[in-house]
Amino acid sequence: MKILNILLILISFIYKIKGEIDCVTHSNDPSCVNYEYPIFNIRVDINRLCSSMPYMPICSIQKSCKQVRSSNGTCDEFSILGDSCTHDMPGMSGCNNFKKLCSKDSVIKQCSRIQSIKNLPKTMDIFSSIKSICNDMAMDGCEKCTKLSPSCAVLPIYSSLCLQMEGMSQCSNWTKMCSPSGNLLNLPISSGICI
Ligand SMILES: *[C@@H]1O[C@H](CO)[C@@H](O)[C@H](O)[C@H]1NC(C)=O
Ligand SMILES: *[C@@H]1O[C@H](CO)[C@@H](O)[C@H](O)[C@H]1NC(C)=O
Repeated sequence: MKILNILLILISFIYKIKGEIDCVTHSNDPSCVNYEYPIFNIRVDINRLCSSMPYMPICSIQKSCKQVRSSNGTCDEFSILGDSCTHDMPGMSGCNNFKKLCSKDSVIKQCSRIQSIKNLPKTMDIFSSIKSICNDMAMDGCEKCTKLSPSCAVLPIYSSLCLQMEGMSQCSNWTKMCSPSGNLLNLPISSGICI
């Protein structure tokens, strides 16, 4: 116990001498402008989100980006994390660091480079659209979404339903997400989602 305490004091002492600031908790500090949140941590956060809610859109997006070997723009993993944490599920613990890093008064440039998927609907809104579509009409894919479970990857399933039945009123958010004025339609991951 004593040795551990001494070690901790020593570590914090060295830390102070180096004058380094923890940019996650002090994202408004001018010295943090060029701070980059490590890719390892980004992946830990995404994994945390996707192991508790594997059906969320960002989990499918991450998979698609891997498949098409894209890692920039909207497929940059920090942008993927942002899709969940600024918009879909900011309350989840996997978003704690992101919310600090990119808080309102953050100076970190990495936050301003984020490219979000435009008009990406929220997990719960997509799920209720799926339920409503499947209630109106039994279609392929509905069997995976009798409840919100890992088998119900909401984004690809909603998309496949709407690709079959574009005219359904419950597909209005899909139409918006995939409209030519958005960005998803022209991304390499649009196949199976918009086209
Ligand atoms: C990502 O990289 C590819 C290949 O280098 C390039 O064609 C594309 O324009 C880039 N996309 C963005 C959004 O920067
Ligand atoms: C579309 O998304 C909005 C929020 O972005 C939501 O309020 C609305 O209920 C959704 N519409 C449908 C038909 O699911």
